[in-house]
Amino acid sequence: MKNTFNEIKAQDKEYIMNTYGRFDVAFVGGKGATLYNEEGKDFIDLGSGIGTSALGANDEKWSAAVSKQAKTLAHISNLYYNPVTSALAEKLCQATGMKNVFFGNSGAEANECAVKIARKYSFDKYGADANRNKILTLRNSFHGRTVTTLAATGQDVFHNYFFPFTEGFIFEEAGEEALNVLKNDDKICGVMMEMVQGEGGVFVLDKEFVSAVAKIAEEKDIVLIVDEVQTGVGRTGTFLASQQYGINPDVVTLAKGLGGGLPIGAALCGEKTCKVLGASDHGSTFGGNTVSCAGALVVIERLLDDGVLASVSEKSEYLRGKLKETFGDKIKEIRGLGLMLGIDFDGPTSKEIAAAGIANGVAVLTAKSAVRLLPPLTITKEEMDEGVARLAKAISSLEK
Ligand SMILES: Cc1ncc(COP(=O)(O)O)c(C=O)c1O
Repeated sequence: MKNTFNEIKAQDKEYIMNTYGRFDVAFVGGKGATLYNEEGKDFIDLGSGIGTSALGANDEKWSAAVSKQAKTLAHISNLYYNPVTSALAEKLCQATGMKNVFFGNSGAEANECAVKIARKYSFDKYGADANRNKILTLRNSFHGRTVTTLAATGQDVFHNYFFPFTEGFIFEEAGEEALNVLKNDDKICGVMMEMVQGEGGVFVLDKEFVSAVAKIAEEKDIVLIVDEVQTGVGRTGTFLASQQYGINPDVVTLAKGLGGGLPIGAALCGEKTCKVLGASDHGSTFGGNTVSCAGALVVIERLLDDGVLASVSEKSEYLRGKLKETFGDKIKEIRGLGLMLGIDFDGPTSKEIAAAGIANGVAVLTAKSAVRLLPPLTITKEEMDEGVARLAKAISSLEK
């Protein structure tokens, strides 16, 4: 393996498809919310691998469970039972009130599964001739990168090049018009939304709107899908963000933070949808992989039994306070829930700030105009203080 940054970068540029705009840094290790580059320089991690490393780097319990599982049985196909995957499914149902789970490997796959469930629910109940197969999603949403989940994403910029896209998705702004369409279009079988639009710029959906959608969905027998790929698994201060909205989704999708850094996605079904998919209707070779599930079991244990989830709201308030105190009126707006924050700064763009962040030892994300923070849920006060101080240096460097 290459050792210096320039060698690593050159190898990457030559052999990996150029689909990502990478920052000028390579990471080789970490502990909690601190990452290390190849020279041992530390960086405060306020992005946690885009919300995946919920417990930060190298959580002791998580690393031990994952290593143990890798040494015991790293994978077994879905043709057989195993105790790890079923234990995770039970824990997820207990934490969410849902009835059963389908495991895949990513958020996009979880959403693909949700789309299939909504369509088959309607097909089974109303028949093929009813053509009840449209799915309404929101403008500014993001649901994934497969051809179907791109089609489901309510942003025109993603509907390019890869024609023909999967048919049957319609988009509305979150608001009155979306409610009207849901009420009046009898061809709709599902509605899918994020409680906080993460990639879209960290916009929190209005509670009244969400309750109104849930009410119409129930009345019209429309499958209510909540995409919690980014908001789920404690990110917003409750296990699911939708739990703060007082709704009962028919399908919830999870990925990102669930595996604590390992690939796993899940579509969870409620009472109405839990019997829609049967033998051979869906599948995934790696779905429910034992090592990923062993990691996810520790994520849930740490969140629920070790108090990590209970600390999220307090940390969120602390971080918001620290940001306001440090940046004052340089901040135009802070949005978000829990440890999912978007900050619009006056002056430099979010991209410029993120690049300057790396030069000053702090890793942040962007979402359109916002600097997006998705720190590990285990982040300490000291790490938050240091992260914000480094962000301040980064922004000052842009003002010179
Ligand atoms: C809300 C939401 N849904 C789906 C996805 C796609 O997840 P994945 O990249 O794991 O396929 C993302 C990824 O950012 C997301 O934020």
